[in-house]
Amino acid sequence: MTKIIMDCDPGIDDAIALTVLLAHPEKADLIGVTTVGGNVKLDYVTKNAQKLLTFLGSDAELASGQATPLVKEVETASEVHGKTGMDGYDFPANSLDYPVVSHNAVTYMYDRISKSDEKVNIVATAPLTNVALLLKTFPDVKENIEHIYIMGGSTLQGNITLAAEFNAYVDPEAMSIVFNSGLPITLSGLNLTENKAYLTMDEIDQIKNLGHVGVMANSILEFYTAHERSVGMTKIPVHDACAVLSLIAPELFTKSTNYSMDVSLTNDQFRGMTYPDRRMKVDQKNDIKVLEDVDREAFVKFIFDSLSSYDK
Ligand code: BDR
Ligand code: CA
Repeated sequence: MTKIIMDCDPGIDDAIALTVLLAHPEKADLIGVTTVGGNVKLDYVTKNAQKLLTFLGSDAELASGQATPLVKEVETASEVHGKTGMDGYDFPANSLDYPVVSHNAVTYMYDRISKSDEKVNIVATAPLTNVALLLKTFPDVKENIEHIYIMGGSTLQGNITLAAEFNAYVDPEAMSIVFNSGLPITLSGLNLTENKAYLTMDEIDQIKNLGHVGVMANSILEFYTAHERSVGMTKIPVHDACAVLSLIAPELFTKSTNYSMDVSLTNDQFRGMTYPDRRMKVDQKNDIKVLEDVDREAFVKFIFDSLSSYDK
């Protein structure tokens, strides 16, 4: 069985991603969830993970990780995800009883991965601070990591700045460490998550008819779409779901190219910009599978079926 640790910053699309993942125990064994400061401050994202894991009836371990990026202060996206990071739905108050097994996600990951009898996959849907620290502090852990599935970066546009995607922008140093770790990586960047793998407003409306988990998902997405609509978007990205699906349903993705990817660490308007090296016959720094297209109809159906499966 495919073993997974999901490193995230819920975050509305992180919540959708985790919900889709937990709907498929037949495809993946989610060992643990680790949190990192990103969409909102660490304290909120860890609480949001507690709420989701309780609501979804999971028994995955939860470890809280790094509050701030490797070099700079954290910059949040609370205008997109709400003050608490998952505004729009009232989760039961007792959700915060969900145990947090460790306040050091880096040693937690090392412990669980290095002792696992099978290689472990990491799905990372947030700034890559925890993952970079894991790989730098405990390089021997690489031997027991199967693959890293990342939502971050882009081969085209940015979102938080003209040039940079949010997860890349918040901790580009961490992203550079992970990109150049030598581990197999599959990347869902904005070129996929924003341009191809979106939901329509109509589809978001339909989600509320998909049982009690659908009602929760629709409520938090309604909050999120208010922001997206205010900036003129009609195609609503659920970025982080792509990283999960690239592992549990890779057949949905119809085109990919392997590139050496770089990330800008400069302190100017290019900070956090990621770019594929399209040159021929040049020594490449890394070899990252960049997802480029999706069967959108099948993608939407997979998400819908996952949400409704909780009531079956
Ligand atoms: C990424 O940034 C966050 O706001 C989302 O959760 C997603 O991981 C999209 O740029
Ligand atoms: Ca995220």
